[in-house]
Amino acid sequence: MPRNLNLDPVVIVILGARGDLARRKLVPALYNLFLDRYLPDTFSIIGVSRKELSDEAYRQHLREAVDEFSRRGPTKDEQWNRFAANITYLSEDLSVPPTGNTLGEKLAEVDSHWSKRANRVYYLAIAPELFEAAARHLEQLGVCRDCTRDRIVIEKPFGRDLASARSLNRLIDSLFAESQIYRIDHYLGKETVQNILAFRFANSLFEPIWNRRYIDHVQITVAETVGVESRGEYYERAGALRDMVQNHLLQILCLVAMEPPVSFAADEVRNKKVDVLRAIRPIRPEEVHSVAVRGQYRRGEMNGETVPGYREEPGVAPDSLTETFAALKLFVENWRWQGVPFYLRTGKRLHTKASEVTIMFRPAPHQMFPSAAVESWQPNRMVIRIQPEEGIVTRIQVKQPGTRVLLGPAEMQFRYREAFRTEPPEAYETLLLDVIRADATLFMRADQVESAWSVISPILEVWDSVPPTSFPDYPAGSFGPESADLLIAKSGHSWVQPVVMQEEGVMKC
Ligand code: BG6
Repeated sequence: MPRNLNLDPVVIVILGARGDLARRKLVPALYNLFLDRYLPDTFSIIGVSRKELSDEAYRQHLREAVDEFSRRGPTKDEQWNRFAANITYLSEDLSVPPTGNTLGEKLAEVDSHWSKRANRVYYLAIAPELFEAAARHLEQLGVCRDCTRDRIVIEKPFGRDLASARSLNRLIDSLFAESQIYRIDHYLGKETVQNILAFRFANSLFEPIWNRRYIDHVQITVAETVGVESRGEYYERAGALRDMVQNHLLQILCLVAMEPPVSFAADEVRNKKVDVLRAIRPIRPEEVHSVAVRGQYRRGEMNGETVPGYREEPGVAPDSLTETFAALKLFVENWRWQGVPFYLRTGKRLHTKASEVTIMFRPAPHQMFPSAAVESWQPNRMVIRIQPEEGIVTRIQVKQPGTRVLLGPAEMQFRYREAFRTEPPEAYETLLLDVIRADATLFMRADQVESAWSVISPILEVWDSVPPTSFPDYPAGSFGPESADLLIAKSGHSWVQPVVMQEEGVMKC
């Protein structure tokens, strides 16, 4: 049974209190932390947004959201009432300089009621255009000046290119200390993403073979079945490269490729990740077309139903050139990875929802079996499944049962759900708790964000200047555009389609 962690009192101020992120992710996560007794005994949640609203109406608004989006399902009266007693609402326009200091007064009231200066977490759950104004607003209120107690959380997208990310970093670094800033990439809070570190560095089995000598190539796939839903307007300005590759996929790549850190301290881990990003071979503009491809979905069939194409989605231009699919081939230029391609791909409205890392091993150096015995031989491969069915599947060669020596592939699989019989926390639960505990290990530092933008900048620039001619080029419900298959086929490889984990047992032939 989880217990609270003797944490200091905390006030969580959600800026953008009525937005989608607060409703779908933040408040359900806080509620689950509360139920699991991870929140401090003394906590307060203050929702801030422009609209006038009573505390009671805000609590009701949140209850509906938690009922809909919590992994635990609908709330129960007694539990919800205990949680909701800690929630209040404040109407404030963050986009303009403050005229009074109602937030400051409210925070001072809370401190005096608890007879203690509480830690404060300011969560910027607002549109990126408002980040700058909101950060200035907070600074002007003087409510976020205690470097050890006050933290500010910023959601992605952190800038829309290297220049804007740099200028945003400069601005917030001028207002707050870097140690106060928590740049969120929710993929880093996912249980299986974190498990890549445990898997690599807590086992002596894998590290000796985790290099160019044994690994032929690596594939990172984040495939989504959803379209852009109600986020057409945002997505039109983002596209798959900015929305997914710059952050989630490159973060996964860092965990797969990084050197072992000396300790699990935040900066030790983050330094090693930045090293990976810096080691990625810069892409020259003239080679963009051969190492990166983009696509856009058109109308298609999914689960027997016709779904609209991207250009038919609300908020999307009928002649939009925004990519909903991106695939890349990258090289990490260091001793460990020299010459090993890392293929990354992500897209919306794909056939299957799956996020996974495939490590494809080289063939055994010498084949001692007669050729008839190895007709169905396949190289070893390890798939780290991030979602939806978390686990690890390793393909090995075994002798097929029978009197003849005949080899064939079999799979060993580890399924999280089966091994632990418990539901992992949502990424936002892990990350919010880390902010409350002031543990920045899973958050991005300024240099990390900028290095990630540097990796994709040449692609962004070329794609912006040379419009695609074949959009839309893949039907909803497919595995993406043909150009993605060609990208990887040029090096003699092919995409591994998402694995299907077996319900029972650990081995499947
Ligand atoms: C978000 C992107 O960061 O990640 C979305 O903005 C995407 O477009 C989402 O759908 C995917 O997250 P998850 O956790 O559902 O894989």
